[in-house]
Amino acid sequence: MSDEFSRDAQVLRLRELIAKGAGPEDAWETAWKDGVTPWDRGHAQEDLVELVKSGSVEFPSNGRALVPGCGKGYDAAIIASHLRLQTVGMDISTTAVEEAKRNIHSSDTESLVSFQIADFFSLKAEPEDLFDLVYDYTFFCAIHPSMRVSWGKKMTEIAKPGALLITLVFPIDGEREGGPPYSVKPEFYRDVLGDKWVQIFEKETNDETFRGRKKVIVWRKV
Ligand SMILES: C[S@@+](CC[C@H](N)C(=O)[O-])C[C@H]1O[C@@H](n2cnc3c(N)ncnc32)[C@H](O)[C@@H]1O
Repeated sequence: MSDEFSRDAQVLRLRELIAKGAGPEDAWETAWKDGVTPWDRGHAQEDLVELVKSGSVEFPSNGRALVPGCGKGYDAAIIASHLRLQTVGMDISTTAVEEAKRNIHSSDTESLVSFQIADFFSLKAEPEDLFDLVYDYTFFCAIHPSMRVSWGKKMTEIAKPGALLITLVFPIDGEREGGPPYSVKPEFYRDVLGDKWVQIFEKETNDETFRGRKKVIVWRKV
């Protein structure tokens, strides 16, 4: 069985789990427990690695970062190790967070990263806990489109003025029915971030496999 075939079969299974309506916590936890993780390539996003190394964006030199829907935490580890920010990886699935903790254990970055089991939409950030950087890859496209307004509000609520939000906008593939992953466009992010955020950077993906279907967009909170 080819990788692509098994990935397509996993996407169908994931959609069935979400459609069952057991609630996101149960559906995502079941997907993780059953190994239905078609998005997981086993490594960090090359677009993120390139962005943090490129110098194209001035990132905060200290402070706190958040990765909601972090999965196994590959990208949280990159943010911590390259930007030296205290990074929180958050996922609603216990199994994902356990795997992320195992992955980071005994690495050079362990002291800079923590992982939490939590629902992003219930996150309460006290003024002293606000984030300097937030990163979203395949979280926005994983939530139901009806949750996008709440996603935008929560991003604004938990970020410091001047904070950056890195979005790897994916999958840009037209008006495909259903999800996850739900089809997206840059303007879907723009619409829900509203005038509280300005776009400061945009670039096509460097990853051949995703050419035309993924973009890197960075926003700054005003
Ligand atoms: C498509 S996966 C992406 C995982 C990771 N970003 C990656 O690229 O490997 C979406 C992740 O979001 C998590 N998730 C879904 N709803 C969530 C919520 N409300 N709060 C936090 N995490 C959530 C799922 O458990 C899953 O791990």
